[in-house]
Amino acid sequence: MPEAYSSTDKKASAACSGEKLEVPNNPEAATALRQIAPRLLMKFEMDQAGGSHKARAARRVVRLGIARGLIIPGVSTVIEKTGGNFGLGLALACQEVGVPLELAMGLSFSPVRREYLRWLGVNLIGEDEMRQGKTPREVLEKRLSQAGASGRSYHYPDQFNNHDCVDAHELSTGAELVAQLADRPEVQRVHLVACAGTGAHLTGISRALRQAGYPLVVTLVEPEGCRTQEGVFVDHPLEGMSVGVKPPLLDWSLVHETVSVSPSDARDAQAWLARERGYWVGRTASACLAVGLRLAQRLPPGTSGVLIAYDHGGWYSP
Ligand SMILES: Cc1ncc(COP(=O)(O)O)c(C=O)c1O
Repeated sequence: MPEAYSSTDKKASAACSGEKLEVPNNPEAATALRQIAPRLLMKFEMDQAGGSHKARAARRVVRLGIARGLIIPGVSTVIEKTGGNFGLGLALACQEVGVPLELAMGLSFSPVRREYLRWLGVNLIGEDEMRQGKTPREVLEKRLSQAGASGRSYHYPDQFNNHDCVDAHELSTGAELVAQLADRPEVQRVHLVACAGTGAHLTGISRALRQAGYPLVVTLVEPEGCRTQEGVFVDHPLEGMSVGVKPPLLDWSLVHETVSVSPSDARDAQAWLARERGYWVGRTASACLAVGLRLAQRLPPGTSGVLIAYDHGGWYSP
């Protein structure tokens, strides 16, 4: 990483360390909390502008980047490596404030999403380099290292190491969930069933629930063959969870158990929800649903399972 970039960033983040600057919640961004089975609630983050829970993290990162002087509209370009939902969220958040966005997106990611990102004006960088074998990380690092020479001023949010993403889910997704649960007095205890990519939403939402006083149990869902805590990963089709690195933003002290799911169990759960309720959720939400449906049958009265519909099933082939 070039010195100019990293020193500015370190200074600014040191100046801001420990703060939880306010980023106003967008009231229109509130997503529904729906009962999808007895003792099983699902928060429909797929209805978030930007299409997923990641849009909340992206919005906070961009807003705080501007507040901290790390992103200067008219001068800076935001750059990130992402194949999916964080990129879409960044595209919207950057558009809101008139800041250009460059994404290094691996070639294996959904072509539909790629096209959609282009519609949003995103510059998808390094496609030829990746065709020749470079990784998205290498593409991004090359741009950062050439920033001085090319006269560009980049801000790299680095979603895997950015604690603002956790705060986004504590202060926005989690706070909203807490307010929605308050309208359901029958829910006295919560069992959160979630997966982890970066770990940001699991940590943030769990913190908000605990802070609100809910006795909380957390089940981490992972694809069969992965052992996330040990850093063991296999290739799997549940795009977005267990992505090949130990989730750096996951607070393991919040996790009570880990449960594995096969892609076919996830697909069955996806089909069940489409058939029974008419909602077509994405693969990671379906994996958590498979676990949640089994769990809900043995939850005691007063305890509700909570799931996140991370994104829409239409992004992926069935
Ligand atoms: C569809 C989907 N599910 C789950 C996750 C995991 O979310 P987090 O990064 O907050 O752990 C992601 C992250 O990109 C995602 O895109």
